[in-house]
Amino acid sequence: MRIVLGVSGGVSAFKAVEVCRRLVDAGHRVTPVLTDAARRFVGVATFSALASDPVPSGLWEPLEGGIAHTRLGQAADAVVVAPATADLLARYAAGLADDLLTATLLATSAPVVVCPAMHTEMWEHPAVAENVATLRSRGVHVVPPESGRLAGGDEGTGRMAEPETIVAAVLAVLGSGPAPAGTHDAPSGAARTGDLSGREVVVSAGGTREAIDPVRVITNRSSGKQGHAIAEAAAARGARVTLVTASGLPAPAGVHTVRVESAAEMAAAMASAASDADVVVMAAAVADWRPKVSALQKVHGVPELVLEPTPDILAGLAASRRPGQVLVGFAAETEDVIERAKRKLEQKGVDLLVVNDVSAPGAGFEHDTNEVTILGADGTSTLVPLGSKRQVADSVLDAVVARLRPGTLDRGSGPGTPGAEERAGQARRGESR
Ligand code: C5P
Repeated sequence: MRIVLGVSGGVSAFKAVEVCRRLVDAGHRVTPVLTDAARRFVGVATFSALASDPVPSGLWEPLEGGIAHTRLGQAADAVVVAPATADLLARYAAGLADDLLTATLLATSAPVVVCPAMHTEMWEHPAVAENVATLRSRGVHVVPPESGRLAGGDEGTGRMAEPETIVAAVLAVLGSGPAPAGTHDAPSGAARTGDLSGREVVVSAGGTREAIDPVRVITNRSSGKQGHAIAEAAAARGARVTLVTASGLPAPAGVHTVRVESAAEMAAAMASAASDADVVVMAAAVADWRPKVSALQKVHGVPELVLEPTPDILAGLAASRRPGQVLVGFAAETEDVIERAKRKLEQKGVDLLVVNDVSAPGAGFEHDTNEVTILGADGTSTLVPLGSKRQVADSVLDAVVARLRPGTLDRGSGPGTPGAEERAGQARRGESR
């Protein structure tokens, strides 16, 4: 297969050399396309020696058989950009074509895989997050950056994925390999790309913290990883996503993230975010009780704690939800798992209840893997075997997509919109879901 390997100007450009070598070794024909900035980091001669095709010099060099960017773009079976800098992502998202790489990206209808690499602050900047979300909603596959050492001795998220991960993602997109764990959009994601586009998805995550005093809290073992994975997966499938999180995990790219601490803060943030949503997923582990009174000053000695239940956010969302909105609850259990979950599904009035046996090895709190059963209000029960939290996230979203009605919901744009009519019609018929 023909692969265009785009390289933009970041310190991880040296890792693109290894990506090139591995793709050639796997039997593919690779044409490296370097931006001017990339040429400052790594020599053209290195790529020329390794790649199967010469490195074109730029937009103005005629290539055998036509104009460089159209010929490269049209002939490619896949285009991979590694590293993809913040600048490259912005130019691609904006549709600029001011060098051979961006022009090739616009001229291709082949699958595109981008591998962002930048400093943490840049990766988390809303402008970058929006550009990544835009590209994802257009079906571009994103191999997310990892955490580790960055340029200049800094540490954090933003380091380009390792060459083997990138190559596995490219091969998966080309249909010649399984999706590597931890990369999200290929190949299963490739099949699902865009199935949530135009949809508004709200996800909660993490364990809430209820203050005893300014120093101590009541909380639980939830890490927030499963909720963050759902938010990330929904964004990769084209949704506009709001994540309300009580976890300290980094905000997923392209996801509007609202940070909260207590159940009360989460209840307020969810009520506001969910009113317009097509899908609401309550993956958070809301503390079930909180101190009736939270001391304003640090308590000295052993306090007599009087607890009260927190508001049931999920039940509140179920009671006030709009017609057609798909509502998903979670349950963590340690015994009589399925029986308890079935009761909870009914009590909470949700469409789907995702239950995990948190006592099972490798499942539930703090792990990177999970194993769940997805119960449907329609009587379905689907076991999702042990896999990454991202794989579980995609299985949950598959169940959600199967329950979404065609078309988007009314977003309060007034009477006359299809959603408003649908809602009015349902109210007349006395339907509720
Ligand atoms: O009853 P239980 O806490 O097991 O219910 C779990 C589900 O209910 C989760 O989806 C959780 O996010 C939600 N929940 C809630 N508000 C609470 C407690 C749980 O929304 N106070």
